[in-house]
Amino acid sequence: MIVLASGDAPIYTVFARRLSGSVQPGPPKSDFRSASDTRGGQATKGSKIPKLKRIPLFAEMSEYDLHQIDQITVERRYDKGEVIIEENTAAERFFIIFRGKIEITKRFEDGEQFVLGVHSDGECFGEMAILDEGPRSATARALESTTVMEISRTDFEALLYTAPVLAFTIMKALSSRLRETGALLISYLQRKNRQLARAYLDTVNTVVHAIEERDSYAKGHTDRVAEVSKLIGAKMALGEEEMFNLEIGALLHDIGKIGIPETILLKPEPLKPEERKRVQQHPLEGKRMIQDISFLKAAIPHVLYHHERYDGSGYPEHLAGADIPVPSRIIAVADVFDAVTNDRPQRKRMSFDEAVKLIKKGSGTQFDPKVVKAFLKLVESGELKE
Ligand SMILES: [Fe+2]
Repeated sequence: MIVLASGDAPIYTVFARRLSGSVQPGPPKSDFRSASDTRGGQATKGSKIPKLKRIPLFAEMSEYDLHQIDQITVERRYDKGEVIIEENTAAERFFIIFRGKIEITKRFEDGEQFVLGVHSDGECFGEMAILDEGPRSATARALESTTVMEISRTDFEALLYTAPVLAFTIMKALSSRLRETGALLISYLQRKNRQLARAYLDTVNTVVHAIEERDSYAKGHTDRVAEVSKLIGAKMALGEEEMFNLEIGALLHDIGKIGIPETILLKPEPLKPEERKRVQQHPLEGKRMIQDISFLKAAIPHVLYHHERYDGSGYPEHLAGADIPVPSRIIAVADVFDAVTNDRPQRKRMSFDEAVKLIKKGSGTQFDPKVVKAFLKLVESGELKE
């Protein structure tokens, strides 16, 4: 009987599926060793038991168990550069390296080849063949002259009947490597995702800078708002995705101003009520501009809500408190801080200290107290200075 720890349940499920499926118990298939079953390499004849004993996976096994492994194992030598298994071909065997070094690579849709790992003496590869009858998901190539021990899926399945405990021991050792491979793939995909996100940001930056060209007072405003927003976001320990959305939101927050005539934008006198109303349309216009661009969707709330106030007296929807997304609350502080510390058509700029006082005064009314607290910490630590 096989005793399983609770964490081994998924593997047992695979076993159970195979045991109840079409595979019939019986001796190892002899045709496995036929020449037509090899991709390359040179098979070696004779007992492999002395060599098997030197592989950690088999080192502690009894002579009886080793004899059974010997029966289903083919020793094969590959020259440097020789392909042992190839991506997208049928998976029929798995391998244990007796001596040498192999490299596992995977090719992605964009053609880029990613090295999943390099393995040497005592390590296994190609073990997905036992779990999945689908095609190979990666290529293995000998980096130097390499001797491997091959075991076919059908022989391994037969071992489940003749020596289940032995088969389970091997399976457990293989499963830990499968988990490592999965973790590597995830980190690769995250890296690709970040590269893609960077490309999006570069596009956004180009558009924003083109818009700022028509308003000399606004030049550099979005970059500075984005920088201060990111500092506050980091102080508040926002997650990676929220930080990314905060940055895009900050860069785009005033994109809706593109539709406002320069006669209003650059007017040196106080705005008339209808002109003020026109300016206050810019969050909604900004939303309309980006809502159909899929990679900018996450920035929509921040374009729309960066003029909301914590006490609900802002615009355009009079949201209050927690109803305003956190990145929007952060952009609100960074936006006001940058606006008042720079000259505008209707007024001169405030000093750094006056602006800090203004932000502090707005805590709980215009601004989220938690955001203001993070902002003040940046000022105290000198991370944000004149
Ligand atoms: Fe704005």
